[in-house]
Amino acid sequence: MSSKGFAAYACLVFVCCCSNALPTRSNPEAANQRPVIGVLTQMVVDEVMKPFGKTYIPSAYVKYIESGGSRVLPIRLTHTTAEYEKIFRSINGLLFIGGSVDLEKSDYARVAKIFYKLAVTANNAGDFFPIWGTCMGMQILTVLVAGESLMTNTTAENISLPLNLTEEAYSSRMFQDFPTEVMRALTQEPLTANFHNYGVLVKTFQENEKLQKFFSILSTNIAENGAHFVSTIEGKKYPFYGVQWHPEVNRFQWDSNHNFPHSTNAIKVSSLLAEFFVNEGRRSLHDFDKAEGAASSLIYSYTPVFAGNFTGYEQIYFF
Ligand SMILES: *[C@@H]1O[C@H](CO)[C@@H](O)[C@H](O)[C@H]1NC(C)=O
Ligand SMILES: *[C@@H]1O[C@H](CO)[C@@H](O)[C@H](O)[C@H]1NC(C)=O
Ligand SMILES: *[C@@H]1O[C@H](CO)[C@@H](O)[C@H](O)[C@H]1NC(C)=O
Ligand SMILES: *[C@@H]1O[C@H](CO)[C@@H](O)[C@H](O)[C@H]1NC(C)=O
Repeated sequence: MSSKGFAAYACLVFVCCCSNALPTRSNPEAANQRPVIGVLTQMVVDEVMKPFGKTYIPSAYVKYIESGGSRVLPIRLTHTTAEYEKIFRSINGLLFIGGSVDLEKSDYARVAKIFYKLAVTANNAGDFFPIWGTCMGMQILTVLVAGESLMTNTTAENISLPLNLTEEAYSSRMFQDFPTEVMRALTQEPLTANFHNYGVLVKTFQENEKLQKFFSILSTNIAENGAHFVSTIEGKKYPFYGVQWHPEVNRFQWDSNHNFPHSTNAIKVSSLLAEFFVNEGRRSLHDFDKAEGAASSLIYSYTPVFAGNFTGYEQIYFF
């Protein structure tokens, strides 16, 4: 309560003094109405997917971002640092998706690190730029912040869980637009789909000074082996967010061999988070439409492949 009160006071003081205020949550009029979120492609490791390409993005993530009111730019893993810098200046946020690659030595990790550094520098200079990590995407955020991998076995595979929300969740940015009844459902109903073998233990997180300083823990869960792991995080200073679970599957994945939550509340959680993140992106004033040759690099130039007969995904974009 008191910190929110302070934020409101600070806005009054600062926003009123400057006529050209940057977009904030409290002055959405100044927001970017044409956001573009970059989605880092994931490396193909699965044999059955290899004939289609070297990298991929399951369509569920694309639909998820689009459903929040943004366009999607797929980002390949083969560019130079200079090219990534150019991409960075044209996008308004970044999504690190799930997958299964080395968190420190893979091309995915290399490119994630380039963007992470650009985003930290930008935010430090007042150039707002949000990052969201889902599943392995959250894991990589912890590796980038901690400077090392702190993963341990926290297997929760094919299981949907209610979140064990912390106090901080109730004053967080991520959940601030959640109606009270959806917050309650989040703690009581299995609305969050888990498909992971690794994660960061609550204890490890709390004992790591870098993680502890950088992120607030918004929720925790118990793994199949009884391990208590961190399931949702939010940057204290930076607009960086991580979920060990998969909000996109609730609305966009249907394979009956997987435990995907499709209840009314599960749909709401997925919609609210997609809108939350895209709204964060609206606060970035990087201009895609003015960037040279930009339009042809959007997701619209690619056609997803039907993959429901050889993977758990209905559709996948390959690159
Ligand atoms: C929920 O979190 C609290 C505090 O971190 C912890 O003591 C408790 O064991 C957790 N319970 C579950 C079911 O995750
Ligand atoms: C992790 O622990 C689970 C449950 O104890 C076990 O079944 C699984 O094989 C372990 N996974 C890894 C990757 O070590
Ligand atoms: C995943 O969970 C669902 C629902 O509980 C179950 O029907 C399905 O068989 C499980 N899939 C696997 C591969 O264990
Ligand atoms: C999956 O279905 C597509 C379209 O029907 C078909 O072309 C393809 O051969 C199938 N793949 C497998 C591995 O069965």
